[in-house]
Amino acid sequence: MHQINKLIYQILKMCPKSIVKIFSKRYVAGFDFSETLKICKNLNNEGFCLTLDILGEHTPTEKDSKNITLEYINLLKTIKENDIDANISVKPTHIGLDQGYEIFKNNLIELAKTAQKYSNFIRIDMESSKVTDDTINAYNEVLKKYSNIGIVLQAYMHRSFKDLAKLPNTLNFRLCKGIYKESKEIAIQDRKEINENYLKILDHALSKGMYVGIATHDEYLIKESYKLIEKHNASNDKFEFQALYGVPMNSWHKHNLSKNYKVRLYMPFGDNWYDYSLRRIKENPDIAKYVLKNLFK
Ligand code: FDA
Repeated sequence: MHQINKLIYQILKMCPKSIVKIFSKRYVAGFDFSETLKICKNLNNEGFCLTLDILGEHTPTEKDSKNITLEYINLLKTIKENDIDANISVKPTHIGLDQGYEIFKNNLIELAKTAQKYSNFIRIDMESSKVTDDTINAYNEVLKKYSNIGIVLQAYMHRSFKDLAKLPNTLNFRLCKGIYKESKEIAIQDRKEINENYLKILDHALSKGMYVGIATHDEYLIKESYKLIEKHNASNDKFEFQALYGVPMNSWHKHNLSKNYKVRLYMPFGDNWYDYSLRRIKENPDIAKYVLKNLFK
């Protein structure tokens, strides 16, 4: 099956975009915003809260990154006007970090200011290790003035536990495994060790009363998280579960919602859907089944 999946992924990569688009629908929450809005309303009605991500990264010019920031500002306004239960997730290199730290930080301040006006929240996604320091530094600087901002820690990074210890106990962070290719000097490569570090970080965070977005599709980690929640007697307002839109997690979501745990879905949308979709399709263990099902539809 592994070989068939690999082959299908290679074929999809050579297909015209219009074909890939058919398979992308599962992972992309709308190619234009009116579509996204409908999907968001339905998911809110089913009990999910959301985080919206305008797809894209490594914006090429300062002007472009300003435009993306403005798109995010409009998004915050639209969320408010439509009474959607969603915050936003933003990548540092999407809003200017490739053009310079100050440009990124100033755009981030604009977002935090707007989010405060609309009683909303900004999650700064964590990208590769090249930008970890800048991301944490900008977070700390913006936090001095705006509290409605949060960060992401990646369990595969050797440094993450130390980073956590330096961050305030009022921290609101998302904990994920980490998706970028990193060397063994920078990131743990062994899956079991990554899981151990994930749980070590979660244990520490819950013991300090930090707010954690437990972002994983790994059933083992979800089960172990329940144990830690119980161990620390953590109340529902100290954590939430997070998953990517489209990853088949239905029974876990139902279970979590039935326990009154908050479940937040990460909703990527917009024009830059191609690379993101291929990455997600590649990670889908049932890709062959999934492609066949869509072909027959
Ligand atoms: P793992 O990879 O072990 O997957 C667990 C199970 O889920 C496996 O059985 C797998 O088959 C299944 N699965 C995973 N992806 C699937 C897919 N696309 N389709 C079907 N099944 C799939 N990373 C980062 O570096 N910076 C960030 O800011 C974020 N942000 C983020 C937000 C949210 C809400 C999530 C859920 C994840 C991220 N990530 C991220 C990605 C994260 O670091 C990680 O790469 C993925 O979540 C995969 O790791 P899991 O913990 O899900 O475990």
